[in-house]
Amino acid sequence: MKTAQGQPSFRPAPSRRPGRSHSRFAEAAGGVAKAGGLAELRGRLAEAEETLRAIRGGEVDAVMVAGQQGPQVFTLQGAEHAYRELIESMNEGALTLTADAVILYANQRFATMVKGPLEQVIGSSLRRFLAAEDRATLRPLLRRADKSGAKIHVLLHAGDGSKMPVQISIRPLAKNRFNRATIGMVVTDMTEARRTAEQLRALTHRVVQAQEAERGRVALELHDNITQLLCATHFCSQALADKIAARDRPLKTEAIKLREMLGKTAEEVERISRNLRPSVLHQLGLVAALRDTGTEFARRTGVAVKLTCGRLTARLSADTELTLYRILQEALNNVEKHARARHVTVRLRQRTFVQLAINDDGIGFDPEQHAARRKEKVGLGLLSMRERAAYVGGALTVKSAPGAGTKIEVLIPWPPPATAAA
Ligand SMILES: Nc1ncnc2c1ncn2[C@@H]1O[C@H](COP(=O)(O)OP(=O)(O)OP(=O)(O)O)[C@@H](O)[C@H]1O
Ligand SMILES: [Mg+2]
Repeated sequence: MKTAQGQPSFRPAPSRRPGRSHSRFAEAAGGVAKAGGLAELRGRLAEAEETLRAIRGGEVDAVMVAGQQGPQVFTLQGAEHAYRELIESMNEGALTLTADAVILYANQRFATMVKGPLEQVIGSSLRRFLAAEDRATLRPLLRRADKSGAKIHVLLHAGDGSKMPVQISIRPLAKNRFNRATIGMVVTDMTEARRTAEQLRALTHRVVQAQEAERGRVALELHDNITQLLCATHFCSQALADKIAARDRPLKTEAIKLREMLGKTAEEVERISRNLRPSVLHQLGLVAALRDTGTEFARRTGVAVKLTCGRLTARLSADTELTLYRILQEALNNVEKHARARHVTVRLRQRTFVQLAINDDGIGFDPEQHAARRKEKVGLGLLSMRERAAYVGGALTVKSAPGAGTKIEVLIPWPPPATAAA
């Protein structure tokens, strides 16, 4: 068992017999008393029996024996010992604190996390290990932790100046002997989890970039080869239809049909190629490109699209424009594939944020369930929309419920923070 300077050496044992008061430390005389009166011996016997009873009843944590080298303390391995072992061997930091964040108890793991000696950690304030903004976040949580628990993510400042991302889980504990609220905390090192999340984010970003590069390549191939060939074939079929004499009616009809099909195919390939290429943004600008996408979608699917664009006070960065353009495309793809909607509204506004909202009145879905299902089958659409928004410093939210349509909103700070600061 650990002892700490200035701290009680023993954890209070739960009193299993309320109303009876027993000393927490049983004292035993080192030597046998010289012969005394019978009454004194009886008294000592009664005291020894009472001490034994208290030990058996689990009311004693430790025994203090007065030896020749002064008092010696022996702890008893009662039921609490197992809990203590568990707390001390945990991979997480464990603390108990007062409501104003003074550390009453810390396990060795927490001391290792903050790279300080346990003796100095116990008795100090938890605030010592937090940055000012995290202290401010923690204060109301500790106050509230009296009633319910909470979880926060903060940076733990260690004694050597290093910082560790941690999750602090706060739980109220039973009031202590002095009727003061105490708070239990479990501190989990999130370094690894954060690294994994960053790697995942970097990977998703690379997937999005690779997707963009591949789209560009396919668009070019389609435009340079397939569309050209289709156009040439379309002209040939036109020439063929012209050459067939009017009296050879069935053959002429077939040739005209062929020409029309080829014309439609060329248009479709050109549409796909245009959607794949972000160059439409350079040519038309964001608002026209969004409008073009909406109009073409409505024509092809029969779903009514209403687009409202506020005035943009300044041209957005190429990355931001591409992000908004791709998000609208992906959202419309989802409407077509999943929503069974009749109306879609698209709204673009620019204030302190650039906001793009896409609402449909379709069948909707449960985003929570979708997140849980993601482990089984990975749909890339929503994930890549989120990643694209995050890449330009924004955030994407999806609100949907079965039968209640779907609302997608992207908010991107504008002007970007770096520019604003400059
Ligand atoms: N507008 C919508 N209406 C109804 N359900 C939707 C809508 N958008 C998304 N969903 C649901 O969310 C799921 C995830 O969408 P997501 O775009 O991530 O993947 P996907 O469309 O299935 O596949 P991918 O986009 O990779 O081709 C869809 O499978 C669908 O169930
Ligand atoms: Mg999709």
